[in-house]
Amino acid sequence: MKIQYSKGKVPRQAHVAIPEGLYEEEHGRQGFFGPATQFYHLHPPTDWKRIEGPLRPRAFATYELIPTDRNDPRGEPVKLLYNNDVALFVSRRTEPMPFCFRNGDGDEIHFIHRGRGVLQSDFGPLPYQEGDYIVIPKGTNYRVVPETRDNFTLIIQSRGPIGFPDRAGVGHYAPFDYDVIETPDPAPVTEQRAEWELRVRRRGEYTSVFYDFCPLDVVGWKGTHSVFKLNVKDFRPLMSEGIHLPPSAHGTFQAEGFVVCTFAPRPLEGDPQALRVPWYHRNIDYDEVFFVHSGEFTLSRRSGTTPAGVLSLNPQGLHHGPQPGVWENSVKNWRKDARLEFVAINIDTEEPLLMTPEAQAVEIEGYADLWAKK
Ligand SMILES: [Fe+2]
Repeated sequence: MKIQYSKGKVPRQAHVAIPEGLYEEEHGRQGFFGPATQFYHLHPPTDWKRIEGPLRPRAFATYELIPTDRNDPRGEPVKLLYNNDVALFVSRRTEPMPFCFRNGDGDEIHFIHRGRGVLQSDFGPLPYQEGDYIVIPKGTNYRVVPETRDNFTLIIQSRGPIGFPDRAGVGHYAPFDYDVIETPDPAPVTEQRAEWELRVRRRGEYTSVFYDFCPLDVVGWKGTHSVFKLNVKDFRPLMSEGIHLPPSAHGTFQAEGFVVCTFAPRPLEGDPQALRVPWYHRNIDYDEVFFVHSGEFTLSRRSGTTPAGVLSLNPQGLHHGPQPGVWENSVKNWRKDARLEFVAINIDTEEPLLMTPEAQAVEIEGYADLWAKK
């Protein structure tokens, strides 16, 4: 148990009735689970004049990426950000994989941003559509068989097994009932070919194993892990009338070194005194990746929006938070029935993320400047 101190000008309840003219900032450890202090500033901490050095808020125009799997069925997704625990890739595959694939480097989450099709695997075929998260355990043999041409999948590769965050306090049925999860039924692929290739990736290197039958020939399975899917439409986000909840309230998946949260449409906090925009945040222990799936993210923006397809990275060590004026406007333009309609996913990583040259090539210039007053 930590002692909580309180000094100077503070509200009685954090995130509620912030004294006029002050800016609240959370200085926390371990995301929102460790020791934390709220500061009440005279100035927004993101109102920087300039930044020198490697850290800065970044954003990437992911629609400009051209992974090799877009034009070549034998191509592969492009890697964007990575550390020892997690790596993010984008796939734009237009044609079915002519091979079967096995990732020996980690579990995968395929987040279907655009497109639909079928994921064939050892466990059976699983149809997918926009908004699906498909979890594929490490070592599973699978084939992606798109039915559409304009496809975009964000792939999150995890070194450790992917599980669910603890739901202490809210029970088994929120923010989604585990019953919404779908698993495939076995259905062996019997298509005859001269040979079938199984491509195995291990430590980033490829090995191909050839068969005269399709290795997806399972007719039955039982066990404790499987390919499965759930859709963002099945989320019933936790919210409060009286207080803005931290992103961890929207936790969806958890693995060693990172968490994935889903921001689904919800009403804004109804209490006029409750903060309705994210507070300034000095997240010293996590990098925060944010990907807009649908709608336009306006919550922290004064003018303009962060449109679908933009992936931003707030590095640990620097501040992030609403643009100047957003906080004040949220009080001035308060409406009882206001709602958020965008869907976004958030990936918080313990280890700092490194950028690949492909990510750097689509970095949005001047993104860090959006957060200062100017
Ligand atoms: Fe944050």
